[in-house]
Amino acid sequence: MVPKDYGTYIEPFVGGGALFFAVIPERAIIADSNPDLIAFYLAVRDDVDGVIAAVQRWKTDEPSFYKVRKLNPAKLSLAVRAARTLYLNRTCYNGLYRVNKKGTFNVPYGGYKNPRICDDAGLRAASRALATATILNDDYLSVLKRHAKAGDFVFLDPPYAPAGQFADFKRYTKEQFHRPDHEALAAEVRRLQVLGCTVVLTNSNTPYTRKLYAGFDIATVKTRRSINCHGDKRRGEDVIVRIKPSQEALFSNILSPRIEAYPSTRFMGSKERLLADIWSVASHLPGTRVLDLFSGSGAVSYMFKAQGKAVVSNDYMAFSSTLARAMVENDSTRLSAADIEFLTHGRATDRFVRTNFRGLYFSDADNLFIDLVRSRIAELNDEMKQTVARASLIRACMKKRARGIFTYVGVRYDDGRRDMQLSLRQHFKEAAQLINDSIFDNGQRHIVLNRDVSQVDVDADIVYVDPPYYSPLSDNDYIRRYHFVEGLARDWSGVEIQEHTKTKKFKTYGSPFSTLEGARGAFDDIFRRYANSAIIVSYSSNSLPNRETILRLLRKHKAHVEVVPVDHRYSFGNQGHKIGNANNKVSEYLFVAT
Ligand SMILES: C[S@@+](CC[C@H](N)C(=O)[O-])C[C@H]1O[C@@H](n2cnc3c(N)ncnc32)[C@H](O)[C@@H]1O
Repeated sequence: MVPKDYGTYIEPFVGGGALFFAVIPERAIIADSNPDLIAFYLAVRDDVDGVIAAVQRWKTDEPSFYKVRKLNPAKLSLAVRAARTLYLNRTCYNGLYRVNKKGTFNVPYGGYKNPRICDDAGLRAASRALATATILNDDYLSVLKRHAKAGDFVFLDPPYAPAGQFADFKRYTKEQFHRPDHEALAAEVRRLQVLGCTVVLTNSNTPYTRKLYAGFDIATVKTRRSINCHGDKRRGEDVIVRIKPSQEALFSNILSPRIEAYPSTRFMGSKERLLADIWSVASHLPGTRVLDLFSGSGAVSYMFKAQGKAVVSNDYMAFSSTLARAMVENDSTRLSAADIEFLTHGRATDRFVRTNFRGLYFSDADNLFIDLVRSRIAELNDEMKQTVARASLIRACMKKRARGIFTYVGVRYDDGRRDMQLSLRQHFKEAAQLINDSIFDNGQRHIVLNRDVSQVDVDADIVYVDPPYYSPLSDNDYIRRYHFVEGLARDWSGVEIQEHTKTKKFKTYGSPFSTLEGARGAFDDIFRRYANSAIIVSYSSNSLPNRETILRLLRKHKAHVEVVPVDHRYSFGNQGHKIGNANNKVSEYLFVAT
């Protein structure tokens, strides 16, 4: 009933929350219009000991019952209010919840001998399940209108439409649920479908409900209603209506909320802010296999994964591939608290960073910490865990450097920002948490390569091309900027540090994109090799070869080429322009060739 993968679990008629407590979703919003019930969940989440202590104070005889029933919940502390709800539920007639027009609970005494009021262990388990949930006391429509997003899973268990002549399951709260409400709910379900949510709805099996949800997948199930005093009448039938997101939603330019889990890093030329534009173009192209030839920060590969594609991600920098392997290829391996403890304690087996980069980028303590984590990574026995740990270390090092780069030594641009103040140890722990949180399975297999673009040879339906922009105004040398984290990714193996340089960088990898002639030839080669795929090229107005040249090269190999302008302002003047200078308004294009 619950999809394998979804953004947020939303249950706006949460009631007893049977499904919520069975699933215990990572991200959840539960809501109900019943204020006592919501107060109960909030108290169980935030003060379970207080609830247990309060409920144990009351006896269960009739006079005590009416004394507790008389207490005005609005005047009680959250824990006592919750204890009262629990107590009344366990001692009242048939466990009913019914209120009068004023919202006062009015079910009489149940007269049970030794009712079991408080299941401590159960309450504590519920408290843990609720720990990260958002709990709201609101009308279901306002919850859905405000919170539901494409990719979410919405479970709707509304007050049922009456199944028999005398059955009345509507009086859950003082607001009743009548036919117009059922019709508004059915309309809302259709809105959610178009929005891109998966919806599951339950109701009683009546001609009325079947008509409301005609056209959807409706399953009938036998049910036992617990709220009915006549045992023989407890049998009934319910429907479970399943609603998949509309095709329109799947193929529109709505980005999955998953993308928000991607930990953004300042990376030169990152297309993080263009993801919606790239997807709005790519969503119209057929096929599931996407090749991201120059993955850089990995943001575009991650977006395609979040949109359900099977991704091959490539970059010639090892550190880019490490990020993509940790967050795109990886679908389930996370660092546990014990792993993080292991990685951040013990002894370093060498002092490579401390010795070679002393006084350049980080303090001695931070350098020693890097050496410690490097050493401990080598001792982890799971390769994907090693990758996640390395990606976390890379992210930590980039975060602590102003602008995330290693072209200058010492501490520049220190404006007292939090990122500058935190130790690398703190950065590492935060990075590990963020990367852990970004990991998910979209049901597809993903591959990460670490090659020069000319060596990549895979079949794909869509190829995304975002090479370094050649500009006469500044170099586009990624290694010069990121050599330190690139060194970390490969543990400086196979590279030779240029000892005479201030930054202790190593020789850049050769790339055809470092010259105009080379870039032209490389584009021609890529377009020729992927002539059978749809090609999307990111390009900007200040780059060379110019727009006309790219168009001409694409048209040589592809029948149909379109230029889609998108608006994008760079976060820093990576093309030799200063921030604040009107020149940093660069027009971005997406060339789409099919
Ligand atoms: C503009 S960035 C890509 C940005 C990426 N789309 C993002 O959103 O972060 C260009 C990338 O091309 C890579 N690159 C440069 N020359 C390459 C080559 N010859 N083969 C493969 N990758 C290369 C660089 O390492 C850099 O990460």
